[in-house]
Amino acid sequence: MANPFVYGQSILGEAFTDRKQEIDYLFQALQSPARIFLISPRRYGKSSLLQVVRQKLVQEDLLVAYVDLYKIASMNEFADIYASAILNAADTKIEKTVKTILEMLVRLRPKLAIESTGAPSVTLDYSFQSKETWKELEEVYQLPERIARKKANRFVVMFDEFQEASIIGGDILEKQLRAVIQTHTEVSYVFAGSKCHLLYQMVQDEKRPFYHMGEIFPLDKIPEAEMADFVLDRFSQSGYRIEPLIAQYILKEMRNIPYNVQLLCHRLWAQTRDAKVVTSEDVELTIRSLLYTYEAIFGELWDNLTTYQKRLLQAIALTGGKNLFSSETIGRYGLNASSFVSKGLSLLQKKNLVEKHNDHYEFNDIFFEKWVIERK
Ligand SMILES: Nc1ncnc2c1ncn2[C@@H]1O[C@H](COP(=O)(O)OP(=O)(O)OP(=O)(O)O)[C@@H](O)[C@H]1O
Ligand SMILES: [Mg+2]
Repeated sequence: MANPFVYGQSILGEAFTDRKQEIDYLFQALQSPARIFLISPRRYGKSSLLQVVRQKLVQEDLLVAYVDLYKIASMNEFADIYASAILNAADTKIEKTVKTILEMLVRLRPKLAIESTGAPSVTLDYSFQSKETWKELEEVYQLPERIARKKANRFVVMFDEFQEASIIGGDILEKQLRAVIQTHTEVSYVFAGSKCHLLYQMVQDEKRPFYHMGEIFPLDKIPEAEMADFVLDRFSQSGYRIEPLIAQYILKEMRNIPYNVQLLCHRLWAQTRDAKVVTSEDVELTIRSLLYTYEAIFGELWDNLTTYQKRLLQAIALTGGKNLFSSETIGRYGLNASSFVSKGLSLLQKKNLVEKHNDHYEFNDIFFEKWVIERK
C-alpha cells in the first residue's frame, strides 16, 4: 500500500484537505475582474491551492495559465515561459497556436517548438539592451487580454513566487507589468508568494509599481480540528491505530504547518508499518531521526552565520520570537541595541531563515528551530 501522506510538491485529490472556503472564494472571485495577492509563509499550501482552483476554473472553460517565477533566472526566460504558458492555456491545437502567435507577436519573431509532452513552447527574439525591445515586450504581456477578447472567454493568470519578479527584471519588469495589467478587463490575476515581507512591500509601499494593485488574501494554516481529522483518517483508512491525542501532539510539534505535518506523518507511517500503531514515542523518535537527517545541512548553515546572527536566532527560538526589542531580551541574549536587532532580523529574512508573523518572528523551518534549541 502506498504511503497516504504526501509532501514536497503541489498536491491534489485525496491528499489535499479542507481549504473549502479559500477554494470557493478564489474560484468565484477569479471569474470576474480580479487581482489577488495570495500571501502566506512557506509551505502553507499556496501552490497546491492554486492547482485545485485552476482545475476547477478549467472545468468551467476558463483559460488558466500558471507561471512559477521561482525557476526563472532572466528576463528572456521570463518572457518565453510566460508566452508559452499563455499559449498553452489558450489552445491545445497546434495549428491554431501558430496562427495566434504570428498574429499577436509579430514584432518578436517567435520560434515555435513542440515539447516531448506535445505542448507548444515559444522562444522570442530580442535582446534586452535597447529601450525598443523593452517596449516590444508589451506584446507578450498583452497576450492574455487579446486572446481572452478573441475567444470571448475570461483568462486567469496565476503567478507563483511573484516576489521574484524584482530579482528577475528589477523595477522595470514590475513597472511594465503594472502598466499593461491595469488596462486589462478580461484577465484576472493571482500573485502568490511566500516571502511575505517582500510581497507586502510590493503592495504597500507607495514607491513601488504594484502599490495598491490588488486585494491581499492571506492564507492561514488549515484549522487544527480539520488537520487532526485528516491525520486520523489517513492513518485509520490504511489500517493503523492512532489516538486523537497523538494527532494533536503531531500538530503541536509541527506547528500545524501542512508540509511539516505531512512530512512527519509520512515518516511515521513508514516507521510503524509493522505494528500499525502510532504512539507518542514513535512521534518523538521520528522527529529525532528527521533532525538527524538534517544535521549536516543545519551544521553548515550555522557555520556560515555571524555570531550576532546566531545569538539572534537563539533568541527567536527561545522566546518564541516575541518581544525581541525589549531591553530584557536584548540584555539576556547579548543583542546590543534595538537598531541591531532590527538590522539582524532583516538580514535573517533575506536569508530566508525567519519570517515576520503578526506580532512575532518565526523560523521558516521548524526543524532548524528545534536544532538551534538543542545546541544551547
Ligand atoms: N490542503 C492541504 N491538505 C493537506 N496537505 C497540504 C495541503 N496544502 C499543502 N499541504 C502540504 O504542504 C506541502 C506544501 O504545499 P505547497 O507546495 O502547496 O505549499 P506552498 O505554500 O506553495 O509552499 P512554498 O512556500 O514552499 O512554495 C504539500 O506537499 C503537502 O504536503
Ligand atoms: Mg509554492
